[in-house]
Amino acid sequence: MANRLPVDRVSTPQGPQWRRSPGGLVTALQPVLAAQRGTWIGWTGAAAAPGEPPMEPFEIEDVRLRPVSLSADEIERYYEGFSNSSLWPLYHDAVETPIYRRRWWDAYRRVNERFAEAAAEEAAEGGVVWVQDYQLQLVPAMLRARRPDLRIGFFLHIPFPPIELFAQLPRRIEVLRGLLGADLVGFQQPLAAQNFLRLTRHLLGLRPRGETVEVGDRIVTASAFPISIDVAEIENLVATPAVRQRAAEIRHELGDPKTILLGVDRLDYTKGIEQRLTAFQELLAEGQLSVPDVVMVQVATPSRERVEHYQALRVKVEREVGRINGDYGRVGVPAVHYLHQSYSRSELAALYCAADVMMVTPLRDGMNLVAKEYVAARADLGGALVLSEFAGASAELRQAFLVNPHDLDGLKDALVRAINVDPIEANRRMRAMRRHLRTHDVRAWARSFLTSLGVSDTMT
Ligand code: ADP
Ligand code: F6P
Repeated sequence: MANRLPVDRVSTPQGPQWRRSPGGLVTALQPVLAAQRGTWIGWTGAAAAPGEPPMEPFEIEDVRLRPVSLSADEIERYYEGFSNSSLWPLYHDAVETPIYRRRWWDAYRRVNERFAEAAAEEAAEGGVVWVQDYQLQLVPAMLRARRPDLRIGFFLHIPFPPIELFAQLPRRIEVLRGLLGADLVGFQQPLAAQNFLRLTRHLLGLRPRGETVEVGDRIVTASAFPISIDVAEIENLVATPAVRQRAAEIRHELGDPKTILLGVDRLDYTKGIEQRLTAFQELLAEGQLSVPDVVMVQVATPSRERVEHYQALRVKVEREVGRINGDYGRVGVPAVHYLHQSYSRSELAALYCAADVMMVTPLRDGMNLVAKEYVAARADLGGALVLSEFAGASAELRQAFLVNPHDLDGLKDALVRAINVDPIEANRRMRAMRRHLRTHDVRAWARSFLTSLGVSDTMT
């Protein structure tokens, strides 16, 4: 179960339709659930009208979906409030100041109860429930209280902060106890699991040993399971003539520049989009790069648009894009092609194939699947990846051009090195990263988590 279903219900002139929902969680879990023929419990992405009965379960792409309804008020307090204005910034190193409002907490607890109830109804006797991400941290304990027969796993897709930051959270004890309802708590990085175990000592006086901690008569394990992508899906996509042709078309539509720089992110302040734009602007100002030899494409998926931090970011990014284009663009040749839109998987794959340099520069990111998708897409061994040290992916993609996005000169230098890299050197780097991904795809991730949870019959 996850906050969102893998599809969102959107209103269109033709009536309501389902559209793939944004973010890395869906990308990672859709193939896993399809292979397991499990039930996915989640929110539809739209507000339920007062008195509207809950939607019946239905099936899409081999996955049974059980919708959970949220009212407009719950979306504001549970999703936009506690989840995305308190927890999201706090867990991402407080790169934006977390906001705490007491009224958000009640909604967070109530919605977590609703998810726990739905799982308690759906799960078979002695079955397995896998709870995903920071929006549902209370569910493990709530579900255990209702269904002690279940094996319960929890996976956090985002970073888990050190004690000093977590300690800010007004409801820190409840959140910690909620997570400890699981048998296995998974994190992206070993350091995050250690932060969590240390907290159980610091805040609850428990005695963690190695990767485990005793909670009453149960043992809870906390460990790292770095998530990945469906490598085969991307490889199959980029092998199609349609995607290859589209990649060539994109290059042509951009004016056949020598170098295409690409960024693909949700429009989120953790992604370092502003730092990337500043680096590009300075390189143009210094004459180290020039239009139309080099163009930048920034795809920024609309995200959490009613949350203040996101509205402010959009204003800043769009102002900066306008400024760069005003100063360095030409008629018909903008310096930055800014696309505030969602794209199909095949269009994204074509963009990855067309990009000479992929810029992934988050200030903090649990994993960052875009970096892995780019590597998976470069079956031709072309392209170069500039990757932030603060993305979980940097622990695995060591042959990327690794950068500290806070260090503007370092970022500019990495961009220039990636743009001018010798093709043989670029191939060597890409081949090594691809070799790693082949054996560490999303199926391997799910298998390793579920095996640790004691589920023997995992997917092949
Ligand atoms: P996050 O989970 O924070 O959004 P990730 O990089 O881990 O970040 O995952 C983002 C996922 O969303 C990737 O699978 C990526 O392909 C997808 N995505 C990003 N931008 C777009 C877009 N404009 N259109 C469609 N999918 C997108
Ligand atoms: O991967 C982190 C995450 O917050 C997921 O939980 C979520 O589905 C995705 O990013 C997109 O965010 P949202 O669901 O708020 O649009």
